[in-house]
Amino acid sequence: MWTWIHSAMEDDTLTAASELKTQMYLVADAVGSGKSSLLHTICQRTHQQGILLASFFDQMNDQSTVSNFLAVLIRGLCSVDEHVLQSVGEILCKDSSLTSAGPQRQFQAIVVPAAKSLPPDRAFVLTIDALDEEDDEVLLIILRDPVPHLPPNLRVIATTRSEPHIMQRLKTRPHVHFCLHSLTGPSNSNRQDLTIYTTQRLNDTEFGDKVSESVRDEFMDKSEGVFLWAATVLNHLERAYDPICELKDILKGRSAHWVEDGNAVPRLDSLYSDILSKVK
Ligand SMILES: Nc1ncnc2c1ncn2[C@@H]1O[C@H](COP(=O)(O)OP(=O)(O)OP(=O)(O)O)[C@@H](O)[C@H]1O
Ligand SMILES: [Mg+2]
Repeated sequence: MWTWIHSAMEDDTLTAASELKTQMYLVADAVGSGKSSLLHTICQRTHQQGILLASFFDQMNDQSTVSNFLAVLIRGLCSVDEHVLQSVGEILCKDSSLTSAGPQRQFQAIVVPAAKSLPPDRAFVLTIDALDEEDDEVLLIILRDPVPHLPPNLRVIATTRSEPHIMQRLKTRPHVHFCLHSLTGPSNSNRQDLTIYTTQRLNDTEFGDKVSESVRDEFMDKSEGVFLWAATVLNHLERAYDPICELKDILKGRSAHWVEDGNAVPRLDSLYSDILSKVK
């Protein structure tokens, strides 16, 4: 992903791969797989590098509307340097109706032209979490239509659950690069992260040292890389009367949902039902 972020500044011959020339990087993965956590890490690192333009999280919050997203994005542009600030000022002076226009028009008439004043020798990153949580279609329309008109050094990184209405809109767009590495699934590309997380959590408990290596391995296999599953089980164990016995029960539980497909929802449902059935 870092190569992709900085590829816009590279020589054309070095960035021949078509995915490096795309404008938007989409991480589409299962519920609870760690998408938001990944994006928080990206925001932290790009902020440290001084290249984070704006970020948009927490769409379930009432305050978090597409209009607010535009406000955050325009503020981000204005804080880059005097040149971009002046460009935004001039656009608004020419057409004051833009201050109260809808997000789509603001994006097209303010963000796209003002972004052309961004310094061309640096990358800039805009992050958007959980497209699936956004009810307003307009955000998807912005990502689908005007985003390719942004300068190539302004890159968008977004996450979403793989919902059909989102995938259909973005899948065929040439400016969208889909992350090829699944955060979950049998290949368990995040197994190392999950092992560190689980070991730390178990070390903080009184029963952690009683969980054998083979049970830990079984726990990793059963999670299939779904962080939310692991976090939910570990939270539950901390409150259980006999955590070791409870853990073995969960690992032994043979849910038919478990092997159905790569979707984490039925697995989490099954886990929640299991845990709830034990709550008196
Ligand atoms: N790399 C990680 N290290 C530590 N904890 C993690 C990591 N990834 C995810 N988690 C934990 O797993 C849980 C689920 O992660 P997260 O919220 O990022 O998933 P998500 O894919 O965004 O879920 P959703 O589909 O509900 O938006 C959280 O409790 C988070 O703290
Ligand atoms: Mg999330």
